[in-house]
Amino acid sequence: MSMNSFGHLFRVTTWGESHGPALGATVDGCPPGVEITPEMIQQWLDKRKPGQNKYTTQRREADEVKILSGTFEGVTTGTPIQLMIENTDQRSKDYGDIKDKFRPGHADITYFQKYGIRDYRGGGRSSARETASRVAAGGLAREAIKAIAPNVQITGYMVQMGPHKINRDAFDWDQIEQNPFWVPDAQAATDWATYLDGLRKSGSSVGAIIEITARNVPAGIGAPVYGKLDTDLAAAMMSINAVKGVEIGEGMSAAMLTGELNADEIFMGNDGQPAYTSNHSGGILGGISTGQDIVVRFAVKPTSSILTTRKTITKSGEETEIITKGRHDPCVGIRAVPVGEAMMACVILDHLLLHRGQIGQNRGVIGPQS
Ligand SMILES: Cc1cc2nc3c(=O)[nH]c(=O)nc-3n(C[C@H](O)[C@H](O)[C@H](O)COP(=O)(O)O)c2cc1C
Repeated sequence: MSMNSFGHLFRVTTWGESHGPALGATVDGCPPGVEITPEMIQQWLDKRKPGQNKYTTQRREADEVKILSGTFEGVTTGTPIQLMIENTDQRSKDYGDIKDKFRPGHADITYFQKYGIRDYRGGGRSSARETASRVAAGGLAREAIKAIAPNVQITGYMVQMGPHKINRDAFDWDQIEQNPFWVPDAQAATDWATYLDGLRKSGSSVGAIIEITARNVPAGIGAPVYGKLDTDLAAAMMSINAVKGVEIGEGMSAAMLTGELNADEIFMGNDGQPAYTSNHSGGILGGISTGQDIVVRFAVKPTSSILTTRKTITKSGEETEIITKGRHDPCVGIRAVPVGEAMMACVILDHLLLHRGQIGQNRGVIGPQS
């Protein structure tokens, strides 16, 4: 498998398995001079960490990041940065009784068909443990972004759990950090708690939709056709485990709009810069950022590991049944929020660097010409 890297200039390679000694990210192309400490990265890993409340898996991983290379006296040197997180709560025995069975909805069957190896200890490389590496790389990307575009703010939150959507009229940024679901709507947080409690107790699971917004991204990053900012964002989000749909701005709903409704009208803002009456484009036109909020949504499927008996087959082709015991998230969407934020940070930084390389400063000036 040589497909473990993403990014053009800010290039991230993740490595490691869920039940091996450690996993991490090798980051090549981070600019020199970025102040970075393990604590700056740790805060984001703590957000993704399992076992923080009853709605996430009870695996107890410290998820403590170590920076092994690429820094000197607290700043990046421009050389490859090795980030490592040790696995401390593997408990492979939880998986012993499903050793020869393929779990429906998991990658066991396709990995085995392709590679001929069945790492039954929690999915190995397909396990969501891998996403810790991305979150570490994303923490570094956030610090590097500060040096280039200091006002960029990247925030993820859940907008739907199962059939329950947030009330957009009640959207409150300050609510996001106040509940276990990262939901910007206080009433939804209360309702979802009751809903998910019921599902969790019955051993079931549910899907979710997560929205990631990047505010204050300057106009002009991205490129036409194969270098579209939306192409890279979609690929980044789709690469997260359990993600089955990605949309940008109006996304799939754009199909239901007329041209009049979908066109974001342009006027001159008070700051003498172009402004828009709406943001159906999700902050991207022609693959290039408009300066509006960049808005990406992705759907995660319900956790496949459930306590209900499902039909499956064994490696030798016998039909059988399976119950996936062990410790699992009843809604993977919760812990996918910081993962989506990290992917947004890596892609935005990558495109800021590409922009700096090709253009430097935007060449098209809107406003009275001198
Ligand atoms: C943060 C996070 C946590 C996850 N936790 C679980 C889990 O506890 N149990 C499970 O069955 N799948 C979990 N998943 C999903 C699986 O990793 C994923 O479904 C599996 O690798 C198959 O890949 P696919 O769904 O992308 O096709 C999680 C995903 C994420 C992003």
